[in-house]
Amino acid sequence: MAGPGWRGCPMLKATRWCAATLLLLLLAGYGTLVAAQRSPAGLAASLVRHVDAMMTGRTVGQVPSGLIGGPFTLVDNTGHTVTDVNYRGHWLLVYFGYTFCPDVCPTELQTMAAAVDIVGSHSQDVVPIFITVDPQRDNSAALSQYVGLFSPKLIGLTGTDEQISAVTREYRVNYARVSSPGGTGYLVDHSSFVYLIAPSGRFRRLFPPGTSVADMATGVIEEIAA
Ligand code: NI
Repeated sequence: MAGPGWRGCPMLKATRWCAATLLLLLLAGYGTLVAAQRSPAGLAASLVRHVDAMMTGRTVGQVPSGLIGGPFTLVDNTGHTVTDVNYRGHWLLVYFGYTFCPDVCPTELQTMAAAVDIVGSHSQDVVPIFITVDPQRDNSAALSQYVGLFSPKLIGLTGTDEQISAVTREYRVNYARVSSPGGTGYLVDHSSFVYLIAPSGRFRRLFPPGTSVADMATGVIEEIAA
């Protein structure tokens, strides 16, 4: 995320981020207008990007930790019901996506798994968690197969529509079904942030999509040491 230069001058940093946020909002607004004339699916996708743009603008301004995260009850990839309390005492990296995702999810999960390995060898173990936004298709068995492709440490979580809806609201995750280009099945447009959660259960840091393995690992190690 932020390079060393960001820490140099608080005023310059604030100004640059204000400008960047304004630009993102303008672009998102324009995108929403264009999409609204096109299709409901396009509008939904555009809305996801719009909210993500606002979240990204707030990343460096430090999202207040009380604003993200909270209690949940879900089912893990071994079929056991778990709650947020089961993971207290562990640092967590949490990502929301779905197993049919053609591009973004696999990339982000690879990054997360690699970062977890680096942090584990330099600092301490972090538990990587993948929460599906597509509970209809992603049951425990499907998740079990999928998470194994990335890391033996990766935990997959699913639940009822209501449970997934509740946890995504708490994490400010936006998702919307869109019809797939081929016409069969569907895709799910979704936010693509990685959340760092402290052993207390409090949210600590947001990694935007496209964060490198090194930046993610460094960010986690910084937070653990803080
Ligand atoms: Ni995805």
